Amino acid sequence: MEIILVGPPGAGKGTQAQRLIALIAVPQISTGDMLREAKKAGTKLGLEAKSYMERGVLVPDEIVIGLVEERLKASDCNPGYMLDGFPRTVAQAMALDGILSKMQRKIDHVLLLEVPDEVIVERITGRRTCKHCGKIYHIKFDPPPQESCECGSKGEFMVRADDKEDVVKERLKIYHDQTAPLAKYYQKKSVLRVIDGLGSPDQVFDRIRKFLMTSDREGGGSDES
Ligand code: AP5
Repeated sequence: MEIILVGPPGAGKGTQAQRLIALIAVPQISTGDMLREAKKAGTKLGLEAKSYMERGVLVPDEIVIGLVEERLKASDCNPGYMLDGFPRTVAQAMALDGILSKMQRKIDHVLLLEVPDEVIVERITGRRTCKHCGKIYHIKFDPPPQESCECGSKGEFMVRADDKEDVVKERLKIYHDQTAPLAKYYQKKSVLRVIDGLGSPDQVFDRIRKFLMTSDREGGGSDES
């Protein structure tokens, strides 16, 4: 299955992706995670990306398109993949179409997680991520265990550098200006499915799971929520 997860920052894309990969057994390709890993490793790409990410603005298209193109060629993507946070501009979506067409592949579903802005800030500022396995928690909605993470490592839970309230507001603005137009782009291709992102992570997952099961039986999706 070839899936794209789109939605505002903090909508729950990573949270749902972690559940979905267990259900459909395809790799999660998160451009945000890839850029953060490059940053941590101190590579040229990571250092370049850092200045954009810390301001909450998008890393230039050519950088992320190149990253995704390379990643999609890996053999673990043969059964499918889940793109999380890519594409984020119409230019990226068009480039992805070109890459997939060369590979004779195509997107099955674009799942757009819809969450109002006022909910986003509370979700993001309470996020904590396990330093070792990347599992996502929330101080109020899904508190990290006191002693150790479920991966077994000693509890070391990080706050992301771009999760400060002023940066989150900038990320939301960028989302509305540059990423939200993707909804129309994919609606025209009849692959868009809007998912209500309110409720608990399990409730949201259940909506996605039911949609994927139904569309699998019916052999296609729809653009209604
Ligand atoms: P990226 O890492 O992709 O960040 P993002 O899209 O802003 O999304 P987040 O990771 O912040 O949120 P999420 O939707 O995954 O939410 P999560 O599940 O963690 O990108 C970071 C930066 O990298 C960008 O700003 C940009 O600079 C650069 N970048 C990345 N991709 C790029 C691209 N393609 N082009 C250019 N630049 C790019 O959940 C958030 C919190 O809410 C968690 O604490 C979670 O526990 C909680 N939560 C989740 N669901 C629920 C729920 N249903 N109820 C209550 N709490 C919930």
